[in-house]
Amino acid sequence: MSTRLPVGVLGGTGYVAGEILRLLAAHPGLEPAIVASDSQAGAPLTGAFPTLFPRLEGQAFASRDDLTAAVADGRLAGVFSAAPHGVSAAMLDALLTAAPAGFRIVDVSADFRYPSAAAFEAVYGMPHGAPGRISDFRCAVPEHLPDLPPGHVGHPGCFATAMLLGIVPLLRAGLIESDVFASGITGSTGSGRGLKDTTHHPERHANLFAYKPLAHRHSPEVEGLAQAAADARLRLHFVPHSGPFARGIEMTLQGRCAGSPDAADLTAALTRAYEASPFVHVTSAPPRLKDVVGSNQARLAAATDGTTWTVSVVIDNLLKGAAGGAVQWMNRLLDLEETAGLDAPAAGWL
Ligand SMILES: NC(=O)c1ccc[n+]([C@@H]2O[C@H](COP(=O)([O-])OP(=O)(O)OC[C@H]3O[C@@H](n4cnc5c(N)ncnc54)[C@H](OP(=O)(O)O)[C@@H]3O)[C@@H](O)[C@H]2O)c1
Repeated sequence: MSTRLPVGVLGGTGYVAGEILRLLAAHPGLEPAIVASDSQAGAPLTGAFPTLFPRLEGQAFASRDDLTAAVADGRLAGVFSAAPHGVSAAMLDALLTAAPAGFRIVDVSADFRYPSAAAFEAVYGMPHGAPGRISDFRCAVPEHLPDLPPGHVGHPGCFATAMLLGIVPLLRAGLIESDVFASGITGSTGSGRGLKDTTHHPERHANLFAYKPLAHRHSPEVEGLAQAAADARLRLHFVPHSGPFARGIEMTLQGRCAGSPDAADLTAALTRAYEASPFVHVTSAPPRLKDVVGSNQARLAAATDGTTWTVSVVIDNLLKGAAGGAVQWMNRLLDLEETAGLDAPAAGWL
């Protein structure tokens, strides 16, 4: 009999769900017991995710009713939601109504990243699906919240994860002014499985372009989360870009120094912040995407000319920015080793 804790997944056929399943397939302490899909209930997991053969061969997507019944019967220790924003909260509300004590949720959608329904609605322009549940969730990258939250977790977005990892330690240390300029390039998996003009291969291959300059919806999220983590004001000026690769985020952060820190001061602040972290590492030269893609690692490097500072950050959007960070949180919430199932190094030459 398996001694692994059974967990469920919502939004089962999506890219992030697929990465959660890939991590769970090799996880020593968690097993994917029920994977709910609205569109493919009854179909084999390996149909949507051929890469899961043979590990999860024979397992089929379940319905949401099956998932709710398993939660109500106490058969699941926790659930990951990889459903879209705007629908995740209502689905999780239904599960929480049925859930016994001790059941834990990690939501990778945007539904529980804001402190109030009004703050969510101002950014997403739609009503929040479960305003009464917002106070049961905490949102932070795991490295910025050493104390375990009592309830559930909303995972920050992928761009937000990269920005927060670089900005929060420098804000906390008082080394930078509150205006931060960010330019980040994401791979095409950042938009999910659905086909869009900007993710269609001929548009994306060998191409590079900015979108939503200074108007990306992660900006208010990062400002709020940085303020909560660093207890300091942040004004973010963010220009996202679509890159010609499938996975990964390369982020360049810049701003004015507060005082006159040198590069060693910036590097020391980052190193101190992450010295106990198994996943976040500070490097002496700007890191490269292939250093981290396929892993739950983040790498950061700082530089300054005396008045301007810059930090380069690389993560895998689907892992540290979504599924990997979510498993990291679930490990902590269920009292497992934080690194369980997450210690594979980057793939390198994808
Ligand atoms: N992609 C990334 O890099 C990334 C990073 C950080 C956070 N996120 C967040 O993670 C979540 C999943 O992202 P993704 O990239 O995996 O998206 P995706 O590939 O579009 O998958 C989302 C899945 O949710 C389900 N779904 C879609 N529309 C739905 C609806 N209207 N009602 C109910 N279920 C619906 C579908 O699965 P079923 O039909 O099988 O139920 C779909 O496959 C999103 O909230 C996204 O914002 C994504």
